[in-house]
Amino acid sequence: MGNFPKKLTKKLIERKQNHSFRELREPKFDIDFSSNDYLGFAKEDKIYDSVGTFLKANGFQQNGATGSRLLSGHNALYTTAEERLKNFYKSQAALIFNSGYDANLAFFSSIPQRGDFIFYDELIHASIRDGIRMSNAKSYKFKHNDFGTLEHYITTQKGSAKNVEVYIVTESVFSMDGDCPHLKELVALCLKRKYRLIIDEAHAVGVFGTKGEGLGTKFTDNVFARIVTFGKAWGCHGAAVLGQVELKEYLINFARSFIYTTALPPHAIGSIIVAHNYAMDKIGMEIRKKLLENINFFISEYKRLELENYFIFIVVFFLGMSKFINLPIFCKIMILIYAP
Ligand SMILES: Cc1ncc(COP(=O)(O)O)c(C=O)c1O
Repeated sequence: MGNFPKKLTKKLIERKQNHSFRELREPKFDIDFSSNDYLGFAKEDKIYDSVGTFLKANGFQQNGATGSRLLSGHNALYTTAEERLKNFYKSQAALIFNSGYDANLAFFSSIPQRGDFIFYDELIHASIRDGIRMSNAKSYKFKHNDFGTLEHYITTQKGSAKNVEVYIVTESVFSMDGDCPHLKELVALCLKRKYRLIIDEAHAVGVFGTKGEGLGTKFTDNVFARIVTFGKAWGCHGAAVLGQVELKEYLINFARSFIYTTALPPHAIGSIIVAHNYAMDKIGMEIRKKLLENINFFISEYKRLELENYFIFIVVFFLGMSKFINLPIFCKIMILIYAP
């Protein structure tokens, strides 16, 4: 260990000095104020048991996928799951990835081509940024949720470039601030200018929509791609890119984080199917209702007890609330209060 590169040791020391040193700790809490398990699905016995039953009943008693989906890792369970997701999210096609991180790397590194343009919200998730970094397209960030000047900004950056695609990417619920863009406005802009819109729905699915189908589903015909992830409200693992059939075909052929990795094991795919079924059951609906009640309770107590100074970030998103009533509150506070 003595010969660890000096440059790296220096960076670790700097992290400690800046109080930004990351360490792995087992979380210890009675009430979950920080995880993404908004609905408590990750620890739901009924889902766990149903997955086992489902896999046995369908002959998928297998621990691993055995290879990449393009080699030995694909199976009928994937077909069932992608069919299920496609219908649930009302898209033409769904392609499962091992994680949301992989899905975003896949999409942004392979779809926008050299000469194309990507415009992304300045608060976009790191996985999208990393995917964009791997792309040959030109990329520009725009001010958070600010679509008022976006059209002009795009026109300025694009200049007279011809035969190029313009991709715009945002999240339907922002992971850190918990606020939401005005999707209707953005969809209208993209329609008008023929921009291709991509929405990362990681923090919206499972929670928003009548069945947990997120916020982008109602715009499905006018959104180029949606990225949904299963490690948050769905309480399991993996992700999917939703869009047209050609998009799925293109990703299967060109997305390196899809091609060069071992597929998810049957248990992970079974969990995705069961969690989506569970969300549509009466009990799933009740859990979402309970989440709302917890949020409302938290808001009233937060105000009554004058806790502003203890929850700085909430103040941030209260400020944003006037624009998009309810959603920001719902979004971020739900992260804070799920208490089974
Ligand atoms: C907006 C957003 N997209 C993608 C991801 C990555 O998803 P996963 O955890 O499945 O890799 C996250 C995870 O935090 C996220 O917040």
